[in-house]
Amino acid sequence: MTATRTVEMLLPELSLISSPDLRDLVVRSHIAAMTNSEWSDLEAVPYIDSHTSKSLAPMTYLSHIRWVARAVDAMIKSLNDSPDFSLDADTAVAGSLLHDVGLMFEFQLNSDGSFAMRHPDMPIRHPALGMQIVLSEGGNRAVAHIVATHSYEGDRVQRSPEAVVVRHCDVVSYDLARRVALDPPLSPR
Ligand SMILES: [Fe+2]
Repeated sequence: MTATRTVEMLLPELSLISSPDLRDLVVRSHIAAMTNSEWSDLEAVPYIDSHTSKSLAPMTYLSHIRWVARAVDAMIKSLNDSPDFSLDADTAVAGSLLHDVGLMFEFQLNSDGSFAMRHPDMPIRHPALGMQIVLSEGGNRAVAHIVATHSYEGDRVQRSPEAVVVRHCDVVSYDLARRVALDPPLSPR
């Protein structure tokens, strides 16, 4: 199976994007990230907490970005039902599927199975690394903006409406992943 077909099968949320160019951008950016990092199997990529360098299993990179894409799509449909809003769902869903692609460059897998930042002495976090991938693959400014501003790095700029939605859906997924992965289980009553 080709790399393109593999990524397409792993990301069924691509069907939420009507633009063939944006669908291709999501696929190409993931192939570029896998080709140039140690993560050659998208299903094996962990969802790493950028603040602690720990895996947030059982959530994975794929389950995280897929949930964010579905949540963003649903929220934008709801917002666009109102005459107050007219957000671009294609841009937002593509940005959702790409927002954490830079994680594959931010972290490395250690021999003991733990994770660490690749360049702790000169850190560049995944929003900037992901933006670089998206732009190098021909991504437009609106999608690159979502990737670059989805985390706290974007708190000092005016996010686009689509980036605001991605930011908040990402936080919901992140907070719940931390709750499940890091908190001790509740003892039975
Ligand atoms: Fe994320």
